[in-house]
Amino acid sequence: MSSLDEAIDAIRKTRPRSVLVLTGAGVSADSGIPTFRGPGGLWRNFRPEDLATPEAFRRDPRLVWEWYEWRRGLIRDAKPNAAHEAIARLGDALVATQNVDGLHARAGSSNVIELHGNIVRVRCVREGNPRLHEEPFDDLPPRCTCGELLRPDVVWFGEALPDDAVARTVSMVAAADLLLVIGTSGIVHPAAGFATLHQGLSIEINPEASGVSAVCTYAVPLRAAEATPPIVDAILEAHR
Ligand code: OAD
Repeated sequence: MSSLDEAIDAIRKTRPRSVLVLTGAGVSADSGIPTFRGPGGLWRNFRPEDLATPEAFRRDPRLVWEWYEWRRGLIRDAKPNAAHEAIARLGDALVATQNVDGLHARAGSSNVIELHGNIVRVRCVREGNPRLHEEPFDDLPPRCTCGELLRPDVVWFGEALPDDAVARTVSMVAAADLLLVIGTSGIVHPAAGFATLHQGLSIEINPEASGVSAVCTYAVPLRAAEATPPIVDAILEAHR
């Protein structure tokens, strides 16, 4: 029996009611958005400390924005894949994502916690006031009407995650009957710790072994777009 079949069997037996889905960059890999680590990963060619820290932004906001504008363009052109669409079929299941691409919401998931923010939003470094800005900027770095710099509304290394996002995710980790962990290397905290906190059935979908594979009940070594639809079908069928 493959681990996918075993995981589906476990879902049929336990008939989980509440599901928490924790996703990382791998869930969007099949939409053509590069992951951070691994072959072709962004951190192979770019150094996080040059591009994704408050210090980097203070030092060279134009360089940081050029990188974000490139990523915003990739994300603008991308479409949700079969994994995002399957997760959306889970209705109001909580989706806690480390991704900033907004693809879960675009696929129709209604209960999404964006632990690391959203790249389509910007905010003023002085006034805050996050707002959507989908189009490319004409001039980099972009500025607020108050004259101060705008920045992407994302969480950089060295910055805290939104308290309410972490608290809601932690309480759902404890309450969920089933945790699905999809496409994360499982090494960036606090998201990496969520799988360890979960007590019940947990299923990882990731073609490679990750930092959370050992703590999950089943590790399914397949791509998200391949393994997520049958797992979601099994969850939905268990309650028909
Ligand atoms: P990573 O790039 O660290 O890991 C991506 C994971 O996805 C790896 O374990 C891959 O094996 C897996 N993967 C690749 N293709 C896949 C596919 N088609 N289906 C399923 N899995 C696949 O991404 P994250 O774990 O999300 O933070 O990274 C966490 C954080 O580190 C990011 O949010 C970002 C990064 O630095 C910040 O920028 C603050």
